[in-house]
Amino acid sequence: MEDSKFLRALNLQPNSIPPVWFMRQAGRYLPEYQKIRKNYSNFLDMCKQPKTCAELAMQPIERFDLDASILFSDILTIPDALNLGLAFYEGEGPKFSNPISSPDDIKKLIPFDINNLGYVFKAVEETKNLLPNDIPLIGFCGSPWTLAAYSIEGGGSKNFNKTKKFMREYPNELQNFLEILSSACFDYLKQQVLSGVNTLQIFDSWADLLSDNELERFSLKYTRMLAELLKKDPVTADIPIILFEKSPNKKVEDLVFKEITCVSLYWQEDIERISKNLIGLFAIQGNLDPKVLLRSDESIWQETKRICNVMKEYPGFIFNLGHGITPDIDPNKVQVMIDAIRQ
Ligand code: CP3
Repeated sequence: MEDSKFLRALNLQPNSIPPVWFMRQAGRYLPEYQKIRKNYSNFLDMCKQPKTCAELAMQPIERFDLDASILFSDILTIPDALNLGLAFYEGEGPKFSNPISSPDDIKKLIPFDINNLGYVFKAVEETKNLLPNDIPLIGFCGSPWTLAAYSIEGGGSKNFNKTKKFMREYPNELQNFLEILSSACFDYLKQQVLSGVNTLQIFDSWADLLSDNELERFSLKYTRMLAELLKKDPVTADIPIILFEKSPNKKVEDLVFKEITCVSLYWQEDIERISKNLIGLFAIQGNLDPKVLLRSDESIWQETKRICNVMKEYPGFIFNLGHGITPDIDPNKVQVMIDAIRQ
């Protein structure tokens, strides 16, 4: 692992060529993924097959020779383990059959038990068995807030109106739920580390639903609580933490905190300004707009080079997309981006 460019960057050490991996690197844009995916009608059933998860995690590593691998799973495994009844059917987003509709549903929740997620930890072990020694494995979870939003809404949504209504009517009960989720996320990430992951990423994908005060009260408070628990536990204390916040109504500089190692920038964030303010303090991951990969090779090359040039002198830069890659992207376009980074 000493010669991992990715881990060097997380330690704020310089790399002449930046390490690269990207969100949703194993996914529907890859024909080799589609080939396996078509054997399952419910995506979650595929996530419950550790050997398949390991094989899927390896696909983008083999195709693009990336510098880090990410566990193949989903953030919604935790609410599923709380018996909210998750399923993902063709062409639909996630759906919960028993969402959190009232404070009573929070009271009635079964205690979180990591043994219900044994398939995830087996997937970590299987993936570590296949990965080359110098390629680190990233484990992850959703932020407590993002998990609460899906659990209350009952699935994906444009504006999460049910969640916002719940937040206004039952703020204290929501906070109880966020505490349950924070502790579940901690147990879950710790067990991922015990199973072999080298780095952790927390996805706060729905931070942008919240106003400034709400962000502090319902999201950041619990993400920090989670990071603090990780830093206090000897098993996880030395594991780098990457935080992804999607376009929050707050400057990135004002939401980072000392327990995290790296901030993963959403594509709308101004990497140039942020890098000037965070240099020497945090590693930065980001942040090419995934939609750029739908443009001409020349345009991909230009945008990729622009980011690399801005970050050339930044110790601790990891090239990534500013959000997950989408199914409409041609893998050859990804290769153009990678060639631009490495040339
Ligand atoms: O390659 C990787 O990045 C690793 C695996 C991974 C998946 N989901 C696999 C997946 C990771 C890290 C995630 C995180 C995740 N899941 C997030 C946070 C990141 C973000 O995008 O903001 C969120 C919000 C989810 C929840 C989720 N999972 C949704 C809303 C959906 C459906 C919408 C969509 O993009 O399809 C998923 C499904 C999902 N998770 C797929 C994959 C590969 C596609 C499933 C399929 O093949 O049908």
